[in-house]
Amino acid sequence: MERINAQTIFAKLAETSQKYINDVISFDELDSTNSWLLESKQCNTVCVAEKQLRGRGRRGNSWSSPDDGNIYLSLSWCFDEVPVNLSLISLITGISLCESLSAHSLQGHGLKWPNDIYINEQKLAGILVETADNLQRVIIGIGLNIYNQDELGWCGLKDVLDDVPERNTLITSIVDGLVAKLLVLEQLSFAEFYNQWKQWDIVLDREVLILQSPQRGKSHPRGKSLQQGKSQQQIKGIARGVDEKGQIKVEMGNGDIQYFHSAEISLRW
Ligand code: BTN
Repeated sequence: MERINAQTIFAKLAETSQKYINDVISFDELDSTNSWLLESKQCNTVCVAEKQLRGRGRRGNSWSSPDDGNIYLSLSWCFDEVPVNLSLISLITGISLCESLSAHSLQGHGLKWPNDIYINEQKLAGILVETADNLQRVIIGIGLNIYNQDELGWCGLKDVLDDVPERNTLITSIVDGLVAKLLVLEQLSFAEFYNQWKQWDIVLDREVLILQSPQRGKSHPRGKSLQQGKSQQQIKGIARGVDEKGQIKVEMGNGDIQYFHSAEISLRW
């Protein structure tokens, strides 16, 4: 198995990415590539590791990160001003990753809102987007399984793709895809974004179960408050896409639409 190599990754980047990426740094072992970039304050830097000791997932979960040839990748990106579409970055990252995987001939994958990559109803990749420096810096973290982690119900690219490219190539195309999207983020209209999103949305028009913790519940201005009891609420509805903030739109049994933020709920289908 080819090891991850920072120089190889940088050399393979597209010309535009090379212009905007200041550095690619690789580690054999690290707590977390996201945490490292958060602390380092570096702009436009790629950080990759063979193994993470404290890989982090969304909503305070951990991300299993053994030294097995998977991809643990983070990109820190600085903006001059807080971007208008900041709240869409985590969903856009999912779209970008789906597109990069398609470019390597993967088929049948899609996004479970907000940004989990699934294939054959199994998780293939996860994304953790964090902000720093008064929202002018984002750290985009991607965990992409090359090998499955059966005990977690996660599949790997090796299960679903005959010819898995070596990781330096995959990392390069993922970073190229992300840079291209970040450079046009300000110009992206919601209509354009949504047009892309719905091609990958695997829960669109399907029945979903919303699991909501009472303390974190918050209503959308156009929706109704869901803070009722003290225990975790389970709400059934039909997923109807996302709004301008990247919140999921869910149609309730009575036809009302409610909006949920990714920090507040988890989704099952
Ligand atoms: C999730 O699905 O919960 C998100 C998982 C994100 C994992 C990646 S691996 C690289 C980066 N560093 C981390 O600590 N987390 C992200």
